[in-house]
Amino acid sequence: MPDRPAVLFVCLGNICRSPLAEGAFRAAAAALGLQVEADSAGTGDWHEGEPPDARARAIARRNGIDIAACRARQVTPEDFHRFSHIVALDDSNLAALRRLQPRDSTARLSLLLDHVEGREGQPVADPYFGGAEGFEKTWADVTAGAAALARRLAAEGAPPPR
Ligand code: 4NP
Repeated sequence: MPDRPAVLFVCLGNICRSPLAEGAFRAAAAALGLQVEADSAGTGDWHEGEPPDARARAIARRNGIDIAACRARQVTPEDFHRFSHIVALDDSNLAALRRLQPRDSTARLSLLLDHVEGREGQPVADPYFGGAEGFEKTWADVTAGAAALARRLAAEGAPPPR
């Protein structure tokens, strides 16, 4: 287990939602001065080795974040030891992670929006088959979740209040 939070974001294809969540989380952690490791993966393998969807790259770029270097990969059993937190983008991916999770897994599993007060249990909807407005909603959701998660991890790592 690494000495700083290591967070893996997981969606279905690893070309839309999870690379955006990873990029937003890296930015949110940097803004707080929080040292983290971050990565993303998919429960499916259809897009293995591909860069993020052009619509995802475009919305990230418009918001000052470059996700073009990401390459899609599938979740592996080792991820449950490499990462302290595995964060699913929706319930079906969370269920797939629970099925894959080794018995001695040390990672904490959650949904991204569990970290946003009042949005616990909500999914980040899959924008892949929709239009550009779906990516606006995805971006709004992943930035809210990523910022809340970064704040939570920063608070957990902070010394206890006196
Ligand atoms: P993602 O979106 O899970 O947010 O990366 C999808 C990408 C590809 C497919 C489904 C969702 N697909 O069916 O190929």
